[in-house]
Amino acid sequence: MVKLAPSILAADFSRLGELVRLVENAGADRVHIDVMDGHFVPNLSMGSVVVKGLRPVTRLPLEVHLMVQDPAKFLDGFLDAGADTIIFHVEAVPQPSQLIERIKSAGKKVGLAFNPDVPTGRIRPYLAAIDVALCMTVFPGFGGQRFLPGSLERIAELRAAIAAENPACELEIDGGVDLTTAGPALAAGADVLVAGTAVFGHAEGPVVAVRHFLALPTS
Ligand code: DX5
Ligand code: ZN
Repeated sequence: MVKLAPSILAADFSRLGELVRLVENAGADRVHIDVMDGHFVPNLSMGSVVVKGLRPVTRLPLEVHLMVQDPAKFLDGFLDAGADTIIFHVEAVPQPSQLIERIKSAGKKVGLAFNPDVPTGRIRPYLAAIDVALCMTVFPGFGGQRFLPGSLERIAELRAAIAAENPACELEIDGGVDLTTAGPALAAGADVLVAGTAVFGHAEGPVVAVRHFLALPTS
């Protein structure tokens, strides 16, 4: 079955706890929390207080996507708040292996993200050490953007690299994922879908959206 990670960036924050419970009950696999610092991306979003607030609300794993210039600086705050997975960008860190090991030694899952203009070969050396490879399918910073052409080829390349290096590593995609773009992405090799607007902005509400996503065929 499809694994869906609703991105709360697109949620109504006045109803955050209630909406997270809805997507949990509808079958979401994890909660995706987009953290932006106004430097690595041209936008601000949320910090560890949101993770702390959600921790007692849901049993779902809380996955933190750090779109920040200095992820090491913020790590302890997110770990203390109850994050289960920390994803940082390979472009942001000169020596990703050190931070990967720090996160693993805290007993948490670790992911590496990479932007659409970064060749998939850049994360290949780290695949054996990580739990999640996050392929950006938009340039990060804002929800509601269009899935970039060229993403399917990158997903397929990453799938081949994961098959060779570490088949247990999840291939997650993020940005512009909706019920139309998800099908070809799954066929190209994605196994976890991040979706914000397509879940929380769905005309019939997030529960219907999650059910539609979970009904998509997997390869
Ligand atoms: C991109 C973020 C995404 C974003 C996805 O800046 O990392 O997680 O919230 O939003 P949608 O699904 O609306 O493209
Ligand atoms: Zn994200």
